[in-house]
Amino acid sequence: MDISTVRTGFIGFGSMAGAICEGLLKKDAVPAANIYACARNQERLKAKCGKLGINALASAEDVASASDIVVIAVLPEQVEAVVKSAAQALKGKIIFSIAAGVDCSMYDEWLGEGYNHISTIPNTPVAVGEGIIAAESRHTLTDEQLALFEGVFSRIAKIEYFSPELLSLGGTGAGCTPAFVDVFIEALADGLVKHGMSRAQAYAIVPQMMKGTAEYMMQSGLHPGALKDAVCSPGGTTIVGISALEECGFRHAVIHAIDRIMEK
Ligand SMILES: NC(=O)c1ccc[n+]([C@@H]2O[C@H](COP(=O)([O-])OP(=O)(O)OC[C@H]3O[C@@H](n4cnc5c(N)ncnc54)[C@H](OP(=O)(O)O)[C@@H]3O)[C@@H](O)[C@H]2O)c1
Repeated sequence: MDISTVRTGFIGFGSMAGAICEGLLKKDAVPAANIYACARNQERLKAKCGKLGINALASAEDVASASDIVVIAVLPEQVEAVVKSAAQALKGKIIFSIAAGVDCSMYDEWLGEGYNHISTIPNTPVAVGEGIIAAESRHTLTDEQLALFEGVFSRIAKIEYFSPELLSLGGTGAGCTPAFVDVFIEALADGLVKHGMSRAQAYAIVPQMMKGTAEYMMQSGLHPGALKDAVCSPGGTTIVGISALEECGFRHAVIHAIDRIMEK
């Protein structure tokens, strides 16, 4: 199937589905006319779809019938009922699940054999085409369907595969950590504002510094420790800041945050 004609549907159109849809439109991955969505609150759905120029439909079954790729974007506890209600129309479609904690074996149990599904956890930067989709390596897509899925969604995200045992860790790394970065950006800005910089200027430079640092690391292939060493001159100011972060247990706090998420 040609990527440019692929029809994509969202069953559930909340925050995450909206972010994926925005990314697809921004990156011209799928034309608005080929995107469909449903939700329970039709009034809110129609207003949201109207703004994006996509099609609002009445039910999960309607979305599944109209689409080649069906994004299951309801809350995890709603997935079983929703997919069972649209089971007939989901046959032969690419079922792209984004519900946290809902893996391949659960779809197998709910739908039985003969369905083509992949379980993932995306993150919100998909909205600007810079996301991550943590995908379970165990799935039931055919090779052709997998190529189509990757062809469409690699336009808005890096797709990284994890074994079933590591999918939730992959989801933590992709889905939870943007909030950590947001807190770090806010804290850095607070420190700069404390010493006299305007809030606007702090928020202009700190996210750009984060973006540039990440881009430099990815493009150069350099180790983060090597990049850190390169800006810490002996007796200089940066190493004083690093030392202060370590005094406050910065690395331990970050590792501990991952530990606590994985215990939940
Ligand atoms: N938000 C994130 O950062 C993130 C990251 C990774 C994965 N996820 C996953 O993405 C999924 C959606 O999360 P979210 O944050 O987007 O939730 P959300 O904003 O609460 O959206 C849920 C959507 O599902 C709709 N819905 C509920 N029952 C339905 C039904 N029976 N038929 C059709 N639509 C129905 C809701 O419609 P009404 O509002 O009209 O009820 C709403 O549009 C979750 O499974 C979550 O685990 C989210």
